[in-house]
Amino acid sequence: MQIKQSDFELTENFADKMDAQDALKPFREKFYIPKQSSGEDFLYFTGNSLGLQPKTTRGLIEQELKDWETLGVEGHFKAKNPWMPYHELVAGQLANVVGAKKSEVVAMNSLTANLHFLMVSFYRPNAKRHKIVIEKGAFPSDQYAVKSQIAFHANPNSAFQIPDSDYLIELAPRENETILRTEDIEKTLRENADEIALILLGGVNYYTGQAFEMKRIVEIGHEIGATVGFDLAHAAGNLELKLHDWNADFAAWCSYKYLNAGPGGIAGIFVHERYADNPELPRFAGWWGHDKETRFLMGDEFVPIKGAEGWQLSNPPIFQLAALKASLDIFEEAGMKKLREKSIKLTNYLEFLLAEIQDERIEIITPKNEFERGCQLSIRVKNSDKNLFKAISEKGVIADWREPDVIRVAPVPLYNSFADCWKFVEVLKKSL
Ligand SMILES: Cc1ncc(COP(=O)(O)O)c(C=O)c1O
Repeated sequence: MQIKQSDFELTENFADKMDAQDALKPFREKFYIPKQSSGEDFLYFTGNSLGLQPKTTRGLIEQELKDWETLGVEGHFKAKNPWMPYHELVAGQLANVVGAKKSEVVAMNSLTANLHFLMVSFYRPNAKRHKIVIEKGAFPSDQYAVKSQIAFHANPNSAFQIPDSDYLIELAPRENETILRTEDIEKTLRENADEIALILLGGVNYYTGQAFEMKRIVEIGHEIGATVGFDLAHAAGNLELKLHDWNADFAAWCSYKYLNAGPGGIAGIFVHERYADNPELPRFAGWWGHDKETRFLMGDEFVPIKGAEGWQLSNPPIFQLAALKASLDIFEEAGMKKLREKSIKLTNYLEFLLAEIQDERIEIITPKNEFERGCQLSIRVKNSDKNLFKAISEKGVIADWREPDVIRVAPVPLYNSFADCWKFVEVLKKSL
């Protein structure tokens, strides 16, 4: 059932009623919610930073500890979930979360490392076409990764030289605006059509919470002859993604945010199937990306596995894969479509409550349109006054502050409730 903003009511009872009608409500019980010293649950709104621990994670990791204890190296083949193909166990579930085919995704490494490895393959500058397009407000790690890739290509002798701005196009919002307009992105792409080698954008901007029109950006990017990749740190497990159908060239994401795989959890990549069997594509290779049939013949010539698996380097960390599996089992049960439906309601409701405060010291900078955002709302605080953030933190809210002036709040449909949103806004009002 879709619900309009005008249907929301400004009573606590209404929040309880919404929770009572919520088919996904039981999923909260599948997670540990951090508790205050009083024993009450924290109002946890930072699933966009570190997702909560599924109650099944411990069991899955303990299974691997047990198999290691009792089987030693034999666990590679004889563990309950044999370690050798363990990453294959999560590939289908991961593919469903990002809208891909199983062969197009693999869980490996960590996010920034994967962005580098993917740029090795997909940033192929030449004298004419060598520019990379990013958001001016991209997460710093993406900026460092992109700038160091540019420096590496522009001047291989000094990877740390700050790159010539000739290589970088940074997309910035218009003056006095915070959100990038797709029409402006398109204009920049078309104006620099012949020089752009790679477009690398976040699916959802970490600061503003803006979700980009990925399908459209891929279309324009390909029209001008560029490669298009996404950093989905804030989009995987948050938006309904269709990476295969959108025709994205590649993507990478971390799994410790919406994917609840735990701090520093194993990340994931997507490589479109049209590159599955393209040995011409340069890549940094490792033995785990080598053809499975001949990997243990210990030959010296690298033969990549077809598909995303061919980008793997090392044998993967099994405990981390087990933690990821615990969460992906929950995603499989809930389904991304249903999660997104609830997420839209939950965030719209939070937005409604915030708007009712009518205090000029706070302003939501996230797009109003539900299709241009995920679950996160970014609340800009006037005069960068961090005291407001401190005050809500002292009253049992876990949100986060992002410099210079934003409190990020992410009601996550798997474990946040409408009552959480109500209570959060009550705390915020008292703290203002
Ligand atoms: C958008 C984005 N990109 C990159 C990173 C860096 O991730 P990692 O430390 O896992 O490489 C983060 C971390 O929060 C992020 O939000």
